Amino acid sequence: MAFYQSPLDLTAFDAKFEAQKIAFAPISFQVARCLLKFGILAHIDEAGEQGCSLDAIVEKSQLSEYACSVLLDMGLSMRLIWQDNTHFILDKIGHFLLQDDMAQINLNFVNDVCYQGLFELESSLKEGKPNGLKVFGDWETIYPTLSELPEQVKKSWFEFDHYYSDHAFGQLLPLIFKSEPKHIVDVGGNTGKWALACTDYHSDVRVTIMDLPGQLKVALKNAEQKGVADRVQGFQCDLLDDDQRFCEGANLYWMSQFLDCFSKPQILSILKRTAQSMNADSELCILETFWDRQPFEAGAFCVNATSIYFTAMANGDSRMYHSKEMLSQISQAGLFVDEDIDEIGLGHTLLRCKLKPSSLKRQD
Ligand SMILES: C[S@@+](CC[C@H](N)C(=O)[O-])C[C@H]1O[C@@H](n2cnc3c(N)ncnc32)[C@H](O)[C@@H]1O
Repeated sequence: MAFYQSPLDLTAFDAKFEAQKIAFAPISFQVARCLLKFGILAHIDEAGEQGCSLDAIVEKSQLSEYACSVLLDMGLSMRLIWQDNTHFILDKIGHFLLQDDMAQINLNFVNDVCYQGLFELESSLKEGKPNGLKVFGDWETIYPTLSELPEQVKKSWFEFDHYYSDHAFGQLLPLIFKSEPKHIVDVGGNTGKWALACTDYHSDVRVTIMDLPGQLKVALKNAEQKGVADRVQGFQCDLLDDDQRFCEGANLYWMSQFLDCFSKPQILSILKRTAQSMNADSELCILETFWDRQPFEAGAFCVNATSIYFTAMANGDSRMYHSKEMLSQISQAGLFVDEDIDEIGLGHTLLRCKLKPSSLKRQD
């Protein structure tokens, strides 16, 4: 889908309103969150087409009339609800905010992980450092300390990360096991969800998870609890270190939502080292959300917004890429894309890569 290749068809009057929505966006965000948190949207929803009065909402929410009324008035302006005389009724946007699990997960991620730190976006952009991360600790990047984040922050981070990859797994497992891999290396395997999905899907497959020590500890504990500790190994590493070698000779290297955690030069270095560990029969499967490959504009919006999390909170120099940028890095690393499949899960693309014949000759 080609996005943003023509000007938006909008009157100047409407464009001016859109500009005001941006100016007040943090206020709208917090109002929506509070309408959810205090159960006001849920209560209005329960009242159905009849809706409910301010008095009934005050009684149920345990907030003051003042508090409820300011939230409700802004909720009207945001078109979350509408008003029939004295009664408030849920509108379509309010319905999806309340019922759509993707909206809830994105909202919690933005509130708990990003919101406070985003005040440092400006300095992060200038310095190429995730200065927003300072709200949680004095860390260079978010990844080595993921397991040390405050409990609610950690919960929202993992729910956000898992939500998107989990939705892709069902479709991916048969695709991946088509080539009957016996040994999979899951690079950036995190808490081991993919490794466990693989060992569950196939009774003989072995999976090596390459990750930082904090994540590896959780992943191996999860494998033990699932009774597959004999088939899930850990390979502790920091892939930002250019001398860090890879687990060698696996049939399949798996990188899901992983390369977006790195800058372009870092990606090239990682892909080159992966290529060095591969042989003629091994393949590298990259699963990513590229903004230009989203089936709908809403997807491109969410993916581009997620880039800003990387800028201000995660590492200051990585992002969600345009697919052309990733394809170029893959080629420069001596690999070619054998299969390129879009629309997996919620807007993922799977790139199945192999060594170029020229890279094979170099290995000989
Ligand atoms: C966004 S998560 C993706 C998790 C999982 N693959 C998925 O699809 O849900 C990125 C993973 O890469 C790991 N990672 C980030 N930087 C790393 C580094 N320098 N070396 C090794 N692993 C790293 C993180 O610890 C995390 O587990």
